[in-house]
Amino acid sequence: MGPMPDYGLVTALLAPVYTGYFQDSIILWRHHRNQGLSAVQFPTIARLLMIPAQASTDFVYPHRHLLSIEDLTPADINGLLDLADKSAEINRDVRKKRDTLRGRTVINLFFEASTRTQSSFELAGKRLSADVMNMAVKSSSINKGETLIDTAMTLNAMRPDILIVRHHAAGAVELLSQKVDCSVVNAGDGSHQHPTQALLDALTIRRNKGRIEGLTVAICGDILHSRVARSNIMLLNALGARVRIVAPTTLLPPSPERLGAEVFTFMEQGIEGADVVMMLRLQRERMTGSYVPSTREYFHFFGLDQEKLAYAKPDALVMHPGPMNRGVEIASSMAELPRSVIQEQVEMGVAVRMAVLEALSYQLPKE
Ligand code: CP
Repeated sequence: MGPMPDYGLVTALLAPVYTGYFQDSIILWRHHRNQGLSAVQFPTIARLLMIPAQASTDFVYPHRHLLSIEDLTPADINGLLDLADKSAEINRDVRKKRDTLRGRTVINLFFEASTRTQSSFELAGKRLSADVMNMAVKSSSINKGETLIDTAMTLNAMRPDILIVRHHAAGAVELLSQKVDCSVVNAGDGSHQHPTQALLDALTIRRNKGRIEGLTVAICGDILHSRVARSNIMLLNALGARVRIVAPTTLLPPSPERLGAEVFTFMEQGIEGADVVMMLRLQRERMTGSYVPSTREYFHFFGLDQEKLAYAKPDALVMHPGPMNRGVEIASSMAELPRSVIQEQVEMGVAVRMAVLEALSYQLPKE
């Protein structure tokens, strides 16, 4: 009998043929050498690494910008989620760097505070080898009276490839996208849209439940001021989920049923039988008056605690986009439950933003 073929070496050498990434050879080879995988285990791992890549190779994102979930078809959404699945695997590897955006420039322009979105776009850009600049809005000429459009035109003249923008006014990011030559991503505009948040929430649900279609998702809390709720309702409906919104009447918009969800004003009814309970932050910075008598009373009736969560399915996921107000919309103990996927949402945030930057990069001029 001749010598056994080295399956690890063969699979590692073939990896770029399937995935399009030379680095995958190195990743697979390292797994093989360092973890002592047997010839039987190795092809299985290789196949797992390659499946999401193969799923993503056919996907062409057909837009120049990402401004609203409304602009996306179910195929666009699934394509982005498949691509993000692959990015999630890259992020769990020791070697996280890809060449996808080498030579490209990404600018983060955040007129509103952010921890998760800004830092994950920065990490995503860096992991794809882009030059990333965080515009320091507080110390910029915006404070000297420069308009949003003038600021955008100034940055545009520096020839960025992708501009990531968060602004407190609904519609501001779309307006800006009409004035610049580069691609624009909406990182949250007022109470209107936060498309990458909805994508990362969907990715988290899909990875935990295996699907979106047919699931009952209860979105609970300050619906009135929430761009996260608006983006999630659109995306979840597009992928066939049953969406409920749960809030006191003061935190619902006029004609709330027009959002495309079943409306509830009691938590126990709204959560009953849900597969996913998504809590929202009480957005006091957007409130112009008194919408709830007190945060204590709000927590009593609408805060997620053990008693209320018991109405959902026993394996219901607990989600929150962050930042969380513990003891206001969610009890600390609920955020720490094993079925709370709040930290996984943050992790998937980086993966989704890598996928969005990669998808947009295919539309950028090549010459
Ligand atoms: N969920 C979210 O948008 O968080 P940040 O405001 O921290 O970006």
